[in-house]
Amino acid sequence: MLQSGIIVLEIYVENGCDYMDMIKVVGGQTLSGKIYISGSKNSAVSLIPAAILSDKVVIEKVPKISDVNSLKEILEYLNVDLKFDGDKLYIDSTSMVNKDITNEYSTKLRASYYFMGALLAKFKKVVISLPGGCSIGKRSFDFHLNGFERLGAKVNNDGDLYTISANKLVGANIKLPFPSVGATVNIMLAAVFAEGVTTIENAASEPEIGNLIEFLNSAGAKISGKDTTKVTIIGVSNLSGGKVKVIPDRIEAGTYILAGVMNGENLEICDVRPDNLTSFFDKLREMGASFEIKGNSVITNKVEHLKPVSIETAVYPGFATDLQQPITTLLLMADGVSTLRETIYENRFQNTKYLNEMGANIEINGDTIRVYGPTKLKGKVVKTSDLRAGAALILAALSAEGETTITDIKHLLRGYSDLINKLTNVGAKIWLENE
Ligand code: EPU
Repeated sequence: MLQSGIIVLEIYVENGCDYMDMIKVVGGQTLSGKIYISGSKNSAVSLIPAAILSDKVVIEKVPKISDVNSLKEILEYLNVDLKFDGDKLYIDSTSMVNKDITNEYSTKLRASYYFMGALLAKFKKVVISLPGGCSIGKRSFDFHLNGFERLGAKVNNDGDLYTISANKLVGANIKLPFPSVGATVNIMLAAVFAEGVTTIENAASEPEIGNLIEFLNSAGAKISGKDTTKVTIIGVSNLSGGKVKVIPDRIEAGTYILAGVMNGENLEICDVRPDNLTSFFDKLREMGASFEIKGNSVITNKVEHLKPVSIETAVYPGFATDLQQPITTLLLMADGVSTLRETIYENRFQNTKYLNEMGANIEINGDTIRVYGPTKLKGKVVKTSDLRAGAALILAALSAEGETTITDIKHLLRGYSDLINKLTNVGAKIWLENE
């Protein structure tokens, strides 16, 4: 049965319903007009748990994604008061209680583990089950746990349940073995109220971490090192207030820019921070893709011939792993063989199986794929295995001949705000359907 529009999608996102799990796309439409980028998923999912360190905070430009909704459920369970006003989220933690965060809450998303750092800082104790998130590799969180221990916490693990507690937390110098985004965030949260100074060396410098530092400092934290690989946290006794605007989602922006260079005619992607996408733009330029950066907009056009390239994912400011699967779909259009090496995750090529079913020729060899172009894609029934694989399939479906059915869309709705409307408004034939 055909479903239409924003209301249905919002109900889906809010209730996490399973009954409506297909997106249908008729490919080959020219996309033109404007797409406005929402707030970053990976910023929002750290800002919301961080909010409990203060009393009353406001977060603006919160994306409409199911990951945000899953965090909302955890906060409500912890007796935190939340109110949405459009894309503004008001969070009041004054009546908050500390309770065990069990599987039912923790496995809905990766970022549930930010409650480790946040609750440890606030209550000196947290009991929490394993996090969820996309199944794209081992995704261990040993650096987080080691960091908590360095601050003076004890970590006990019983099956899926972690108990992390401390009499007091004391600042320490922590050097991460790898600049992990999650470990940088979690250790920073845990250290906000620690006695003395904490430094995190080899920290991740992703823009989303800068957004979190900006927010915590607006509430009275003393954190320096934004956009660098050394973060210094001078412990404070409390936080109060705090206001922040979520930065634009650079991965969502990259995804729609790809849609534009494949199918656009003056398709303008608005509210972008181009500085956060430098490595991505470098590769598009190398391929000969047509795009023009004008302030915070990127205007895209389809071109007929693209050159093959070699890409290797890296930590920021390198080529983002989260754009690796989406750009694979563009590589299919190039005249020749491209290679793409994934260096962050062990299992982030699940999109290739379905792209091959749509007519692509992609070979996997260990951590590298070879993409043989150019390809004419054909509409098929394909399945979303993880969030960015879903984005790669949407891009493929928009370019393919005929109708594509994408199933298991819950992964996509975790990270792309208002996807159907944004694409419909620029001329895509895309809709939700019941099974
Ligand atoms: N790692 C460890 N031990 C740790 C932490 C990380 O071995 O304690 C390894 C991981 O197994 C992985 C690598 O280090 O192989 C990178 O992990 P990182 O901690 O940097 O990633 P994350 O915090 O789990 C965040 C984003 C991801 C994004 C990565 C890299 C959130 C909620 N998730 O994940 O986003 O890919 O940083 O930029 O912020 C996505 O949006 O699709 C997504 C997966």
